[in-house]
Amino acid sequence: MSKLHIVGIGPGSIEYLTFKARKVVESSDILIGSRRALELFDDVDNEKIELGAWNMGEIFKVAVYKACQGSSVALLSTGDPGFSGVLKPILKLVDNVDIEVVPGISSVQICAAKLQIPWDEANIVTMHGKGLSNGIISMLSNGKPTIILPNRTVDELANFLLDHGIDPDRNIAVCEKLSYSDERILKTTLKEVVNKKFNYMCVLVIY
Ligand SMILES: C[S@@+](CC[C@H](N)C(=O)[O-])C[C@H]1O[C@@H](n2cnc3c(N)ncnc32)[C@H](O)[C@@H]1O
Repeated sequence: MSKLHIVGIGPGSIEYLTFKARKVVESSDILIGSRRALELFDDVDNEKIELGAWNMGEIFKVAVYKACQGSSVALLSTGDPGFSGVLKPILKLVDNVDIEVVPGISSVQICAAKLQIPWDEANIVTMHGKGLSNGIISMLSNGKPTIILPNRTVDELANFLLDHGIDPDRNIAVCEKLSYSDERILKTTLKEVVNKKFNYMCVLVIY
């Protein structure tokens, strides 16, 4: 049936892919996603279109067009589509397409689980698509752990925080490539992450 399914695939490992996501993908005609998302479905025989930073706008239009033309399209979003994911740009593009959102496990959730943080008591911030702003500075003094998806490098954010008076000895956890076999969780202090390089796939927690 003609529909645009926006499917959360979780943090990356197949272990965190939901049964529902798999079922929707298997029954779709066209599968669209980043290379790492498509790799989860190598065994599924549908038309596949790779999505990258270079073609995102164009491919979103293709996804909508194909769904309007009668195809069942599964558009993959890492983590959950509703958190710094594919849902927002698609909603900006359409108002008359039949959409189904399949939730996925967000990188925020797996980070909170790994660090045993009850995330109903955490500040949750995404910097994706946004610049650094002073809002985060006041947040860091409300006594709650702050879980952050950084926009660019960890180093850039650390320098911004230090420049705005955050204690260099403040505890920070850098959670890289969560759920993958080379996952790494580094617990250190703010001053120690300056000038260090981390994978772009990372979530930060400032305690
Ligand atoms: C465009 S946002 C997508 C967020 C996604 N919708 C979610 O719910 O996790 C991409 C960012 O999510 C984070 N991320 C996604 N997968 C991750 C993983 N496996 N490990 C660590 N961070 C991850 C990183 O901060 C990455 O730069």
